[in-house]
Amino acid sequence: MRIFVTGGAGYIGSICVEELLNAGHEVTVFDNLSKGHRDAVDPRAKFVNGDLADAEGTRQALRAAAPDAVMPFAASSLVPESMVYPSKYFQNNVANGINLLDAMVDCGVKRIVFSSSCALFGAPDRVPMTEELPVKPLSPYGQSKAMFEQMLRWYDQIHGIQYVNLRYFNAAGASQRFGEDHRPETHLIPNVLAVALGKKDQVEIYGTDYMTPDGTCVRDYIHILDLASAHILALQSRQSVSYNLGSGDGYTVKQVVEACRRVTGLPIPAIERPRRPGDPPKLVASSKKIASELGWKPKFPKLTDIVASAWAWHRAHPDGYRE
Ligand code: UFG
Repeated sequence: MRIFVTGGAGYIGSICVEELLNAGHEVTVFDNLSKGHRDAVDPRAKFVNGDLADAEGTRQALRAAAPDAVMPFAASSLVPESMVYPSKYFQNNVANGINLLDAMVDCGVKRIVFSSSCALFGAPDRVPMTEELPVKPLSPYGQSKAMFEQMLRWYDQIHGIQYVNLRYFNAAGASQRFGEDHRPETHLIPNVLAVALGKKDQVEIYGTDYMTPDGTCVRDYIHILDLASAHILALQSRQSVSYNLGSGDGYTVKQVVEACRRVTGLPIPAIERPRRPGDPPKLVASSKKIASELGWKPKFPKLTDIVASAWAWHRAHPDGYRE
């Protein structure tokens, strides 16, 4: 199939592009390189430097690519940042997203696999989290993802655009070639590994008074290659549907730091800090639905395998991408 990927120069986008190409699909990457890296774009993909804020440019690029499906990864994706700059999240993730949807309508593109997030559930009262939980986001970031999903329902009903919402839990790890390079970096695993690399003095642990086994937040880390394989399977879906996507195991922040110590063999000093605004205490996926309906199965569910892949990439790219 021909796939139009926005944000294909970013962390998740770049590795999904690589896996789409490996699976034999043709890919056009549309990215303004505001956060992504040119070196993260697989050379087998066609690259268009464009911005979703530019409705006409988006439409032209989509028409030229004439794709069978769209995969939008271009979005602002940091929970804490969204608690300070909500407007950025509604602008980039909702308003610019409308430009993409309208371009799809104009160009007759009828299929989308959307990068959604478990952040739209807020702080659920039970885990593992199934798709039926109420949508109650705790941050503008989660709200923006919920809003896009709601829009998709109407674009399906009115314009016949079939969607698959993939609600990611915590994407982590790397492929052999591409990895995580956010500037600044706010995510846990790359921050812990930055200490192991000697680029930071200590890891900051945000909040130790949550109602969890050791007081730190629990997250479900999913290997980026498993996340990519879910996108490829989602292309086969013929119905509009939402799936939660995680490994199904929850780890506390302290357990992640410990796993990084084991994988790297380094002491990795840590310091306890106050809670970070907008962080739900516990997010663990039930991925039963995507497993039973699309046959998705994580190949790398073990946290140490996820960390080891990230560690290999960061050691090979201590300063991230060159460009
Ligand atoms: N954390 C630390 N120290 C750090 C970084 C993070 O203690 O230096 C903690 C956070 O407070 C949180 C946990 O580690 O409890 C995970 O934080 P991340 O920033 O790695 O990830 P988030 O869970 O906040 O968010 C990520 C993505 C979102 C997505 C969400 C789904 O950034 O886009 O996972 O859980 F919605």
